[in-house]
Amino acid sequence: MSIALRSFAKINLGLKIGPRRPDGFHELRTVYQTLALHDVVRVDVQPGSGIEIRCDDPRVPLDESNTCYKMAEQVLKAVARGPLSVVVEIEKRLPVQGGLGAASSNGVATMLGLERALGLQIPADEKLRMAAGVGSDLPLFLIGGTVLGEGRGEEVQPLPEIPELHVVLVAPPIGVSTPRAFALWDELAVREPELTTAHGTGTIEAFGQSVLSWLNSSFYPQAGPASGVPAGGGNRAETPLLDLVRTGIENDFERVVFPEYPELYEVKRVLQREGAAYASLSGSGSTLFGLFESEREARGAAARMNAAGHSAVTTTTVTRERYWNDLFEC
Ligand code: C5P
Repeated sequence: MSIALRSFAKINLGLKIGPRRPDGFHELRTVYQTLALHDVVRVDVQPGSGIEIRCDDPRVPLDESNTCYKMAEQVLKAVARGPLSVVVEIEKRLPVQGGLGAASSNGVATMLGLERALGLQIPADEKLRMAAGVGSDLPLFLIGGTVLGEGRGEEVQPLPEIPELHVVLVAPPIGVSTPRAFALWDELAVREPELTTAHGTGTIEAFGQSVLSWLNSSFYPQAGPASGVPAGGGNRAETPLLDLVRTGIENDFERVVFPEYPELYEVKRVLQREGAAYASLSGSGSTLFGLFESEREARGAAARMNAAGHSAVTTTTVTRERYWNDLFEC
């Protein structure tokens, strides 16, 4: 049986890195947001044996290191249903090593595709556990929409929905290694210890406060699909966007990635000049995103950036409801 799924991208609306933990991971806090832009993952299960990954993009590994392979292995082990052959085909549209969580999202799509193909109902906590075992950025894709990430990023909980925002993504042809970006952060934290001490202004605790103040701001709890009440009575997109910007949440990875790749900082500046209400690196990059208040502004900015050679695309944020509605509707 073959199942096709949309494997959505994510951005980080802010990301604070804390100290390195004894297990080698870094404590972090982030707000993940899923986007409409997606890969397509097809999962095929037949009697037989073995896991095969197919993808036309030569940058995607097809061996046991692929998150889809790891996820399929975990699911098969958990359900132990006799010998099965699993083929996962990834139709790549998202950048590889781009900070958009593509590999993580592909892994979760594989799990959900297998669950459906095998007629299973794996308990939610079991799915979260398996996803976290494969990588820190997988569990968010079991929630969708706006998601708070804590711990090493794998402790996730749904946040109140933001109304659909217009997004311009620019994915420069640079792959940034996440472990390397964390190592650069450690070096910076030695030079500037206040970055990770409890009383620093930009610390993980301060980020927690910012997120709380954002959640408590005017668009919550009145706004959102459940109540149908527009935020602040004006442009639905405008208020949460401005509230978010006002919190001053930012992505700590910019501190170490921009000095290594000044061209990425330049792209952020261009997004800001083009009118983005908020522009940032996503994850450890190299993708940058800009949030715009209207589709017209986003399209205009993307067109001008493309004309200037930046390879920009437009998309929108995806609410939790739309995420789950559209997941299997390929
Ligand atoms: O969990 P994931 O496989 O995505 O992590 C990849 C690498 O990124 C880890 O091996 C670790 O070096 C680094 N990492 C970290 N702190 C985190 C998440 C990832 O140091 N919170």
